[in-house]
Amino acid sequence: MDVSGKVVLVTGANGGIGWALVNELLERGAAKVYAAARNIEAVAQMAKFDPGHVVALRIDVTHETSVATAAAQCQDVDLLINNAGVNHCKSLLDPEGLETARQEIKVNYLGTLSMCRAFAPVVAARRGAIANVCSILGLVNLPVNGTYSASKAAGHSLLQGVRAELASRGVKVYGVYPGPVDTRMTAGQEMDKATPEQVAKMILDGIAKDEEYIFPDAMSQDVYRGLLNAPREVEQQFGAMLP
Ligand SMILES: NC(=O)c1ccc[n+]([C@@H]2O[C@H](COP(=O)([O-])OP(=O)(O)OC[C@H]3O[C@@H](n4cnc5c(N)ncnc54)[C@H](OP(=O)(O)O)[C@@H]3O)[C@@H](O)[C@H]2O)c1
Repeated sequence: MDVSGKVVLVTGANGGIGWALVNELLERGAAKVYAAARNIEAVAQMAKFDPGHVVALRIDVTHETSVATAAAQCQDVDLLINNAGVNHCKSLLDPEGLETARQEIKVNYLGTLSMCRAFAPVVAARRGAIANVCSILGLVNLPVNGTYSASKAAGHSLLQGVRAELASRGVKVYGVYPGPVDTRMTAGQEMDKATPEQVAKMILDGIAKDEEYIFPDAMSQDVYRGLLNAPREVEQQFGAMLP
């Protein structure tokens, strides 16, 4: 999809990748971007906030009424980018693992599902598209982020199902699988990280080229190649990265 002249909604827009996507969409000529966040005051305070083209919109993806209200209000969306997400960095057997698993499933899986369900009729009416920001950790479990990885694996399955259900209605569904990106989510974690701006460009390049699977950084591309060639080896490498 060419985003020029299109109306786009980005969830989690006050976050690192979300805000970079908003700016990159404007760079590429999007007509209007709904920058959706739980805290719209935070959106209005973001650097380079452009009230002429950006509409700050309150959405908590875990609240069905909030999602339904937004869908009723935004009937002009061509491209929905489900970017909101949380990572509590807990392993599955951590004492707090069950509670973090619940919270991550609520946002990363059920929240994304809720957005897809509410906006499917909107984007279908415009023969538009949906892009879900999943994670490379949805394709291989990293035990230190075990509960998050599992929630993103659910997100990957959700993406495939929604893609199949919407195909006959002319809606493209893109899956985005980043590796580590330098945002609040990875603050304090020492490792090579892509910048949110680089990742936003790669995501929109992938959407422009109509790529159904988008690996927006060198690390995710490398891991994906590994998963295609030697999936068990990749699983073992990630499994060995215990605290
Ligand atoms: N950073 C990475 O290394 C990385 C790698 C792979 C995938 N991802 C994915 O990329 C996406 C963006 O993450 P990020 O790195 O940009 O992290 P971030 O800066 O922490 O941004 C996350 C965004 O999600 C929002 N959010 C959380 N819960 C929400 C809810 N219930 N309703 C609506 N919005 C909610 C946050 O809003 P608040 O400010 O209100 O909390 C924030 O705007 C996530 O889906 C993440 O899983 C990130």
